[in-house]
Amino acid sequence: MRKKIVAGNWKMNLRLEEGMKLSSEIVEFVKNNPLDSLAGKPEVVMFTPFVHLTSVAEVIAGVKGVAVGAQNCYTEEKGAFTGEVSADMIESTGATHVLVGHSERRSYFGETDEVLAKKTEVALKNRLTPVFCCGEVLDERNAGKHFDVVKEQLHKGLFWLSEDEFSKIVIAYEPVWAIGTGVTASPEQAQEMHAYIRQIIAEKYNAVTADQTTILYGGSCNAKNAAELFANNDVDGGLIGGASLKADDFCTIIKSF
Ligand code: 13P
Repeated sequence: MRKKIVAGNWKMNLRLEEGMKLSSEIVEFVKNNPLDSLAGKPEVVMFTPFVHLTSVAEVIAGVKGVAVGAQNCYTEEKGAFTGEVSADMIESTGATHVLVGHSERRSYFGETDEVLAKKTEVALKNRLTPVFCCGEVLDERNAGKHFDVVKEQLHKGLFWLSEDEFSKIVIAYEPVWAIGTGVTASPEQAQEMHAYIRQIIAEKYNAVTADQTTILYGGSCNAKNAAELFANNDVDGGLIGGASLKADDFCTIIKSF
């Protein structure tokens, strides 16, 4: 059975003490509602700003099913790259995951498919689980090009990996038009794209690999709509932005499973 995951992407929000409070509240909830992936319950990952990683890793230490990850990493291993953070440094904080290719990184920071392929490689090399984000902008969807756009992002970003490497990847489908807009993809739109992603993974690798790949949905997913999104066969959880900043909302989303 493939893993279910509810992940929070805090983006550039929360002071350190606020992040520790939020993660403590989530840990408290999980202690009272133990996560059991074998029972179909999700794992929880908090994608925090770099400066929160070590502290949140301490807050979650020893709590089963809860992990912390970074929102980005640099393409190079180490060296004279002032201001950048390496995958190795991230791993040294206790973090286990890293987002690669979030649409905000693609659009505001010009991250190309080639750069994202490199980040995926360096993350895997440093024992981090890459959560690789893909998704089309509104014009592309309106033009009926959304499948082609996502296919190209996956081909260039991921499909050069060996089957063994690919099996360590989590994918997040985040239609850009749904991010932070309050406009969620309908459960049908999410299911349709997730099934398509699984199909092209099967074509590139094989049916077993495709079946085992966790594919998350992101984009205005919240406490109200999570259950109907997660109810779809190919939607294995969510990557939550705004609603991950409030413990109550985030815990309701975890409960949606
Ligand atoms: P929102 O949930 O705020 O739309 O953000 C989604 C997202 O970008 C998660 O990575």
